[in-house]
Amino acid sequence: MGAIQLLNSHLVYAIVAAALGSGFQHGYHTGVINVPAEVFRNWENTTHHDVYKSWLDKPKLDLLWGITTSIMNVGGTIGGVLSGIASNKLGPKNGLLFNNILVILASLFMFLSKMVNSIEMMVIGRFLVGINCGFNCGLCPMYLSEISPVALRGAVGSIYQLVITISILISQIVGLDYILGNEDCWIHLFIIPIVIAVIQIVLLFFCVESPKYLVSVKNNTEAAEKAMKWLRKSEDVGEEMGEIKKEDDQNKALPAITLKDMFKDRSLKIPLFISIMVMLAQQFSGINAVIFYSTQTFQDDAGLKGYAPQYGTIGVGVINVMMTVVSVMLVDRAGRKTLLLIGFGGMALDTLAMSIAFHFTKKEKEILPWFSIVLVNIYIILFAAGAGSIPWFLVTELFNQAARPTAVSLAVPTNWIANFIVTLTFPSIQGLIKSFVFLIFTVLNLLFFFFIWKMVPETKNKTIEEITSRYK
Ligand SMILES: *[C@@H]1O[C@H](CO)[C@@H](O)[C@H](O)[C@H]1NC(C)=O
Repeated sequence: MGAIQLLNSHLVYAIVAAALGSGFQHGYHTGVINVPAEVFRNWENTTHHDVYKSWLDKPKLDLLWGITTSIMNVGGTIGGVLSGIASNKLGPKNGLLFNNILVILASLFMFLSKMVNSIEMMVIGRFLVGINCGFNCGLCPMYLSEISPVALRGAVGSIYQLVITISILISQIVGLDYILGNEDCWIHLFIIPIVIAVIQIVLLFFCVESPKYLVSVKNNTEAAEKAMKWLRKSEDVGEEMGEIKKEDDQNKALPAITLKDMFKDRSLKIPLFISIMVMLAQQFSGINAVIFYSTQTFQDDAGLKGYAPQYGTIGVGVINVMMTVVSVMLVDRAGRKTLLLIGFGGMALDTLAMSIAFHFTKKEKEILPWFSIVLVNIYIILFAAGAGSIPWFLVTELFNQAARPTAVSLAVPTNWIANFIVTLTFPSIQGLIKSFVFLIFTVLNLLFFFFIWKMVPETKNKTIEEITSRYK
């Protein structure tokens, strides 16, 4: 296998420096308040009593808890919109570097909230960490895609999602009640992100900026060439630099791209439509609904006792990580499109089976709960095959340097809003139509399957120029 030889110690360093800290915050803060949710809710209830002298009843606490968890999506949407500006003004690497200030601030807010008895500070902290994650998922895949050699671009781009899945798993483990997820220790859950942020600051400080950014925005070919030589650990970067400069000359010859062009110009409109659709597809595939449902199933239906439901959730996390590793290895060989088609086609069938199995689970208590768990795990495998990782970097592949930041700042917020909608509406729709709720995802996954089949181009082993010229 030739592509793997393109990896060298410098490139690995740059990948780790960019992805470790940013993917960690995204995954960790997504998962951290789920396992010890009861502890958090009790704290909110008690604090409300201490400060406002009244206990919260269930509807009020549900609402407050809903705000605490989902305000991260509001922040993520804002961060996503602003990530385009950040990458143009600061560059993707420095954008990621400075973004750590935000996560340190956010974690301090959350850490101090218990000391000063303030639910508001916890909510503000969640909001700030959301902004941080919005920036991360705009800037990190962009940087990864810009520094990697063409033959490795999919694998390197997938590392962001790999770190997310690992960090969700870490958050679930440290959130167990005999580790940190208990009344006395939960506040220490917010020290870990600060440590990781400091590590990322140090790592990125010694890392190079994206050569493509240095050429196109900074007009500094010399610095770009130096950065490229470092990344490739080789003096022989003429060919790659030539391509970057060629693309830049073409861009410079055209007027600057405005937001309006994105929606009017055919060569931009179609890739933008594809980017937004794959982001929607990632969330409306139903991943969060399935995870939410599986936690419920482990607790209620499968009748698991003691720590078993939490271990069930962790088991799902382990499968997610393992399959994402497989996806990293496959994405530059099998191709983006193939993995997406297998994933969405499979998820359509699997959610159909889930709907039927979950419906009869209520009647047949012996075997079907376990069958449901098997279906959940198959779903996670299908999701992680490509739908989890590919959308984040596909958007960076469909646009050249001039349009990429704007495209990212439209596609990333779409993902956060879609995530918000599913998380918010799933419990009530489930309440209404019970397990048939998964039929909605069957229909959506089928639609996404056909959309990907007809519209998404295969981008593996193609230069950005080869990909974008398709839409000229
Ligand atoms: C809040 O705490 C009070 C006092 O312990 C309790 O009666 C009430 O049920 C709690 N609220 C919820 C929603 O658990």
